[in-house]
Amino acid sequence: MDNEKKLPVHFAPLQGFTDAPYRNAHETLFAGIATYYAPFVRLEKGNTFRNKEVREITLANNSVHHLIPQLIASTPDELERIATLFQEKGHTEADINMGCPFPMLARRHKGSGILPYPEEVEQLLQRIYHFHNIKFSVKMRLGWDNPQECLALLPLLNELPLQHITLHARLGKQQYKGETDWDTFETFYRECRHPLVYNGDITTLDGLNKLTNRFPNLAGVMIGRGLLANPALAQEYLQGETLSKQELHEKIRAFHTSLLNFYEAHLEGKAQLLCKMKTLWEYLLPDMDRKIKKKILKSTKIETYRAAVGEGLKL
Ligand SMILES: Cc1cc2nc3c(=O)[nH]c(=O)nc-3n(C[C@H](O)[C@H](O)[C@H](O)COP(=O)(O)O)c2cc1C
Repeated sequence: MDNEKKLPVHFAPLQGFTDAPYRNAHETLFAGIATYYAPFVRLEKGNTFRNKEVREITLANNSVHHLIPQLIASTPDELERIATLFQEKGHTEADINMGCPFPMLARRHKGSGILPYPEEVEQLLQRIYHFHNIKFSVKMRLGWDNPQECLALLPLLNELPLQHITLHARLGKQQYKGETDWDTFETFYRECRHPLVYNGDITTLDGLNKLTNRFPNLAGVMIGRGLLANPALAQEYLQGETLSKQELHEKIRAFHTSLLNFYEAHLEGKAQLLCKMKTLWEYLLPDMDRKIKKKILKSTKIETYRAAVGEGLKL
């Protein structure tokens, strides 16, 4: 496997997890990510943006070598507003979210909720022609409730000037659970004329190898929860071997300290800090001793939290 061509690994956008401090600390401590994606920016009621979402994509707050901001929109005007913001903020790439499964957004034909409506998808995506200085990509699912939806969209997607498509091999109605459907992914893969990036449930080197064996012409793989669980996964893939437990814990310790220091300096109060730090452990190191993990997640004071993390990452 070591001599084989390695796929570029892209860090998926994960709202609530992969914010700018997370991405910056991750790239400083772990190698192997080709592109970091920022979680989606949306237009609020009254046509405004949330300050936090704007801060997140501001270049001065991001140190990673390659960041692509993402937008979610159901109408061409919304797309135009958000892409204009990206342009004003100095971005030259933008990813369009047609995969989010949240029912509140999907009901309004945003995210994967737009997939059953090819005419709306076409209208939305035609607006990318207004932006000569931005390269667009699309992140989508197989469909909202039927895997034929992505195949029905392929002729129109193939005609658009997209940089690539990332396809999460699930339906919107599955949310994040249930099987990924590699057979429908394969049909799309065969007929898609754009570079295609696979996404969904890749968590191990073995999983990456199975993927590349079955789909040798992929342009990349996007990984979300697998990297939240093991932030060294992309590095291990590129190096062709897993880190020892000691090496991994050392790195995670440094990563954790870096995030704790950042949030301590930037968040208001200990309660907010504790809440933010505990979120990290919802996915991180799933094989950690269950009692220690529970102590971390149930801690009510930052002091007990720190002690439990110290115990869990003992070298
Ligand atoms: C908590 C959470 C937040 C997410 N936020 C976003 C987002 O902002 N934009 C997006 O395109 N996908 C988002 N996703 C989907 C992931 O990017 C990814 O497509 C999905 O988790 C499947 O990949 P994985 O199995 O490698 O995690 C989110 C997923 C989770 C679990």
